[in-house]
Amino acid sequence: MSNENQNNEKLAVAEKAITFVNDGDIVGLGTGSTATLAIQQLAKLIANGLKIQAVPSSEATKALAISLGIPLLALGEASSIDISIDGADEFTANLELIKGGGGALFREKVMASLSKKSIIITDSSKRVEKLGAFKVPIEFNPNAEAYVFKALQKLSSHPVKRIKNDKVFVTDNGNCIFDTDFGLIDNPTVLASELDQIVGVLAHGIFVNLTSVILMAHGDEIISFTKK
Ligand code: A5P
Repeated sequence: MSNENQNNEKLAVAEKAITFVNDGDIVGLGTGSTATLAIQQLAKLIANGLKIQAVPSSEATKALAISLGIPLLALGEASSIDISIDGADEFTANLELIKGGGGALFREKVMASLSKKSIIITDSSKRVEKLGAFKVPIEFNPNAEAYVFKALQKLSSHPVKRIKNDKVFVTDNGNCIFDTDFGLIDNPTVLASELDQIVGVLAHGIFVNLTSVILMAHGDEIISFTKK
């Protein structure tokens, strides 16, 4: 798919997602290029009178929302979110996701967990039969680096510490990320619970049971995936 077509798909699905936002909602704002388009569209609705409070899932999204004049509530202060809109790096028709390509996985997972309706928006390149071609990001506390590395090696996942612009990547939470390769993942739920048990792991990029609907643009169509 050309970049232009991919961007058109991202915009179409972002425009669709914001039609689900209602006046008075607390709205979770995702992170990444697709979520950014939805946030920009939402700002237009707010300029035209829509009243919402938004909860950002990263420092980048917070800065974007402030620049667009979107009223914000801190993630840590939100006890419930009516609707959240976020992207994904991979998804299956069973609503399993890999997220965290941008490093915002922990706050995105908190946001999704708080959301009554969690909408994931993607272009058509993100759909897979089985998760795992995209490397699974794992955020860990640096004090547990050697321990988490060993635990991930035991799971044969070839952990590689994330580097960005020649520097160790540091998350908004002051942690680091291992990108891991589990091959194609037969059972994301089992893997998610194995990763949840590793001391020092703050969050991993496998999202299961956290999504209400996935909207995927495919050419001029928007296809929606919900729980079967
Ligand atoms: C951020 O950490 C990720 O989970 C993003 O939601 C994901 O990488 C999707 O980003 P794009 O919309 O830019 O593909």
